Amino acid sequence: MRAVFITRRGGPEVLEVREVPDPGPGPGEVRIDVRAAGLNFADVMARMGLYPDAPRLPAVVGYEVAGVVDAVGTGVTAPASGDRVLALVRFGGQAEKVVLPAGHAMPMPEGMTFEQGAALPVNYLTAFHALFRVGHLSRGQSVLVHMAAGGVGIAALQLCRSVPGITVLGTASAAKHAVIRDEGCHHPIDYRTRDYEKEVRQLTGGRGVDLVLDALGGADWRKGYRLLRPGGMLVTYGFANMATGPRRSLLVAARQLLSVPRFSPIALMDDNRGVAGVNMGHLWGEPEMVLGELEALLALFREGKIRPRVDSTFRFEEATLAHERLQGRASVGKVLLVP
Ligand SMILES: NC(=O)c1ccc[n+]([C@@H]2O[C@H](COP(=O)([O-])OP(=O)(O)OC[C@H]3O[C@@H](n4cnc5c(N)ncnc54)[C@H](OP(=O)(O)O)[C@@H]3O)[C@@H](O)[C@H]2O)c1
Repeated sequence: MRAVFITRRGGPEVLEVREVPDPGPGPGEVRIDVRAAGLNFADVMARMGLYPDAPRLPAVVGYEVAGVVDAVGTGVTAPASGDRVLALVRFGGQAEKVVLPAGHAMPMPEGMTFEQGAALPVNYLTAFHALFRVGHLSRGQSVLVHMAAGGVGIAALQLCRSVPGITVLGTASAAKHAVIRDEGCHHPIDYRTRDYEKEVRQLTGGRGVDLVLDALGGADWRKGYRLLRPGGMLVTYGFANMATGPRRSLLVAARQLLSVPRFSPIALMDDNRGVAGVNMGHLWGEPEMVLGELEALLALFREGKIRPRVDSTFRFEEATLAHERLQGRASVGKVLLVP
């Protein structure tokens, strides 16, 4: 089979399609013939050497796939060969074949395309977990979503719309405002030309918001904390400010690390604010929680409440272009790789 390898740390040019033997399913496992694989910001960070969880290079990364079961191991009763499934995988997804425990392959709802199937797991689980499990989002609250036109951002907008009376403020570059408005953002903010902290204050009559979803990191976490109303929560789930150029810069990384705020429990108590973190990759040991959330998301898809937005689809041989598009901030929604 063919797979997209990150051959060494560096720019997009280090990506290479290589031929490797097909994996076979062991007992209790199934093999998926991959039709679409998700590309995530974490893959870009892994390529740059900025992702501590990444496997040792050379490696095939990729956290999510959609495809057709084409081999089953002993003892597997479901899914069966020929079933259309989507799945989370811990690396190795950007390949023609993927082997995983049978229970991790979820049947795809009718009407869902392979592209939508591969666009759903990481972005929607991250947004769902941050908004509902951690953020306890409830009727009538207000949310600030950063990177609102990205994969997780759009998932968060759609999920906010599934709860009555939520006001959503979102940061994105101006060219993407029409799209995020369409996806449910009430107040798009052009963070590139405006001070978003000031703007959020104005838009909320100085009260701030109940929830901030922040994968920017560094000084933005400080701003997000300041924007919380009493009882509010800052949910941190990424550090995109680390990856400003195509290659790793230790100077940028050091500057960013120095700007990370320190939160004291005493200050949290006195401010009536909370700070929480989400790392879906570290929930691998909690399959019941994660698969339960995935079930809930598939139910929302069946009800028509969420609809993964695919930005673009690239062949494996074009992985370089896919990374450039994601990292160049050109995408709106999900970037996919197809064998
Ligand atoms: N913790 C977890 O489990 C988890 C899971 C998934 C993703 N994440 C994190 O969530 C973040 C968003 O992921 P995604 O897949 O939604 O990203 P994405 O689809 O690549 O979206 C990124 C968009 O965010 C905007 N942006 C604003 N500041 C940026 C910056 N400093 N660097 C890059 N882009 C910036 C850009 O749009 P504009 O044109 O509007 O600037 C860009 O197009 C990433 O940091 C990722 O690592 C975390």
